[in-house]
Amino acid sequence: MTKIVNSWNDWDPLKRVIVGRCDNSVIPPEEPATSEKVPVDSEMRGMWGLRPLATVERGNECLENLVKILEDHGVIVDRPTPLQWNQAIGTPDFRNDSMMTCMPPRDILLTIGSEIMAAANSFRCRYFEYLAYWPLMKEYFDEDPSFKWTQAPRPRLTDKSYKHNYYDEKISLEERLIRTANKDFVTTEIEPMWDAADVMRMGKDLFIQHGLTTNRAAMDWFQRYYPEYRVHAVNFPGDPYPIHIDATFVPLRPGLIINNPVRPLPEEQRAIFDANDWQIVDAAQPAHTEPPALCYSSVWLSMNCLVLDPKTVIVEASEVYQQEQMDKLGMNVIPCDLRDAYPFGGGLHCSTADVYREGTCEDYFPNRVKDPTLVRPEMWPEG
Ligand code: GLY
Repeated sequence: MTKIVNSWNDWDPLKRVIVGRCDNSVIPPEEPATSEKVPVDSEMRGMWGLRPLATVERGNECLENLVKILEDHGVIVDRPTPLQWNQAIGTPDFRNDSMMTCMPPRDILLTIGSEIMAAANSFRCRYFEYLAYWPLMKEYFDEDPSFKWTQAPRPRLTDKSYKHNYYDEKISLEERLIRTANKDFVTTEIEPMWDAADVMRMGKDLFIQHGLTTNRAAMDWFQRYYPEYRVHAVNFPGDPYPIHIDATFVPLRPGLIINNPVRPLPEEQRAIFDANDWQIVDAAQPAHTEPPALCYSSVWLSMNCLVLDPKTVIVEASEVYQQEQMDKLGMNVIPCDLRDAYPFGGGLHCSTADVYREGTCEDYFPNRVKDPTLVRPEMWPEG
């Protein structure tokens, strides 16, 4: 029997992975969810349409750099089938003038054990992105009898899914941070909505970022769907645009996490890590002061690395400070030129989705303490 799908965390030895593609990528038109994603001072405000071909070719070249490194390290690489992303889409509930891309599979696919689940993304332009991965899912389904091919409940994404008048270009950074600290985000709680890149998998524990792309209803849904795992809600008040956990809180190996120093995990949310001797260290400063042109993400993609095994990590080639820190933390660092792929949806972690890592579901947090992050604490008594 062929076992193709198996992954419980972000650090066990990687054997098979999906790497995205930039083909046909689009800057999507503004919609309720994306108006919040684009920083107010971004050059991308009000701009939409197919991305320039030269940038697509260069982005794909960067992804090929990553594919080569992975294959040189014995990792099998699978690729999605891009759609014509500039097509308009519609459902009974909404219309949108285009889709987006299939560069960051991490936002769409969540691998937990032998299951790969397509997410319940809150952006209308990403509603059909899962289709790019369906040929691969079918292949895994045909070849691996234990593979569970799943789609999370599809959100309707009607106007009721979003707060209106939430975006206001006059809002200051300070006000935005207060809003983030108060967990006041653009999505409502009318239905579960989540991006897979907001979920940090650690064996028996799932840590999920509550932010612009994942709501509290999603956490409740996760805890019901996975009653055998402890689901934790974490948030990072220092981030004015909290989207995806993987440029904020990144595990390198059991017991070690790097945390974005301007987005520290609040003290009270650290209890479960402290009780189990996990070290949370500030990530190194990014090497750049600005993201590349036409990029939604922040300079903190510097810490968006791909761990190949607990001693080996791929870091973006220009991120010299992050490489230096990883080296001091005892990791073997493999640099990869990927910066020109950032505009398509993120860094090394974003541009991949796990298919197979060696290992099993472990309990990395056996010492139970009072833990305010637990979504349903009554299911997990202390002591
Ligand atoms: N959300 C990823 C970043 O830009 O920091």
